[in-house]
Amino acid sequence: MKATSKSPANIAFIKYWGKADPKTRVPQNNSISMCLSDLYSLCTVEFNSKFKKDKIEFVNERIVLNKERERIIKVLDRTRNLAGIDLRAKVLTQNNFPKATGVASSASGLSGITLAACRALDLKMKGKELSKLARLASGTASRSIPNGFVEWKKGTNENSSYAKQIFPADYWRIADVVAIVSYKMKKVSSTEGHSLANTSPFQKTRLKLLKAKVKSIKQTIKNRDFSTFGQILEKEALEMHAICLTSTPSILYWSPTTIDIMKKVQSWRNQGKLESYFTIDAGPTVHLICQQNDEKKLAVRLKKIKEIEKIVINHPGSGAREINQHLF
Ligand code: DP6
Repeated sequence: MKATSKSPANIAFIKYWGKADPKTRVPQNNSISMCLSDLYSLCTVEFNSKFKKDKIEFVNERIVLNKERERIIKVLDRTRNLAGIDLRAKVLTQNNFPKATGVASSASGLSGITLAACRALDLKMKGKELSKLARLASGTASRSIPNGFVEWKKGTNENSSYAKQIFPADYWRIADVVAIVSYKMKKVSSTEGHSLANTSPFQKTRLKLLKAKVKSIKQTIKNRDFSTFGQILEKEALEMHAICLTSTPSILYWSPTTIDIMKKVQSWRNQGKLESYFTIDAGPTVHLICQQNDEKKLAVRLKKIKEIEKIVINHPGSGAREINQHLF
């Protein structure tokens, strides 16, 4: 009873920030994202009567918090309940990037664990059922189940809140050049951040305007209209961070290097030299969205910023899938 998954991180063009129901992770708004080709988690789960208790291990991670283990055990409990069995499990998980720095590690990690646990127990769930199950572990994990460009519809309750593909990965040749600026774990987790969103005086206005924004960005993806798409996604990132900054207590996820990159990207664009747009999740990492013909040029410029720890070029990628090579 063993299975292994490979599951991608995803980058949100329209952000999930604020939950309608924290327990079931039903969000306050729809969000739009893209699965990333080169940032992912691998995870092997084995259920076995030999195991006395659940054992969770991470490859190459210096710090593993108790709450992270507890979150994974909850995934195991959910799948055990669905399968009607009571066996303990061993879980080994490995990211090819640092967690909790603003690359969606909970998205790739927890969607991967959900898929591997289901397959190890021979649960046949896929599509929207799998996305809903992953959502219970982490909201963004629901968006790492489908392939390519994805919309997570908030729905009206936990049964109608799941993510679906809106365009396949090969629909549009754009890239996400990720600039990881720090290997330190962020101080305020996104789960905590979500719970503060409603304390911002601007959250209500944001939610009012979001429906129209989701509609327009989907149209720009459909038309492959890069400039309009980029302007919307950059403004959207700033808007999510405006909510963070004006929450009580205030959250500032950026580092000086984050701001340096934001300014450089805008100036390269304004000089008409290189068209890319930034977006940032809950951390200092900057995601630069460009067309694939510009990705190398962009990476060369970013390499000159010595504070950047790592640059990873991503294309639109596949969602979570089962693979044959187990980690143990
Ligand atoms: C900032 O999925 O990490 O990346 O549901 O509490 O696990 P939980 O939160 P999480 O939310 C992160 C949201 C974001 C924006 C986005 O990707 O939409």
